[in-house]
Amino acid sequence: MKNLLAAVALIAGAGMFANTASADGLALAKKSGCLACHAIDKKIVGPAWKDVSDRYKGKNAKAELITKVKAGGKGNWTEVTRGVPMPPYSPRVSDANIEKLVDFILAL
Ligand code: HEC
Repeated sequence: MKNLLAAVALIAGAGMFANTASADGLALAKKSGCLACHAIDKKIVGPAWKDVSDRYKGKNAKAELITKVKAGGKGNWTEVTRGVPMPPYSPRVSDANIEKLVDFILAL
């Protein structure tokens, strides 16, 4: 199963089956509880993920965003959220799934 997931991630990374990958990303976000506060293209409690992607795309921010999802925090979107913090997700969401979620968001 792990190998299969790795293969799927590789294929998705290559840009093939991108729709399947984003459907998986969205399903994982839903399952993980992210969609209570986030949507792809509008602010809910947290910033729209499309805006997150636009801000960080090409800036090598993946590790920083993974840390933020794991540990939570605030301060990067205060103008959007008025200072509401993002809750910590580690360990209730696995490291592997947090990485998948961040990849999904950055690819939007
Ligand atoms: C209780 C509401 C809430 C939930 C649930 C939530 N978030 Fe957030 N999220 C926020 C807020 C608020 C911010 C803005 C934080 C800031 O200002 O730095 C944020 C910011 C982010 C950012 C941008 C971080 C940055 O520093 O720019 C990412 C990526 C993100 N969330 C991903 C996720 C993922 C993935 C999940 C599910 C595992 C999730 N969020 C669940 C409220 C939430």
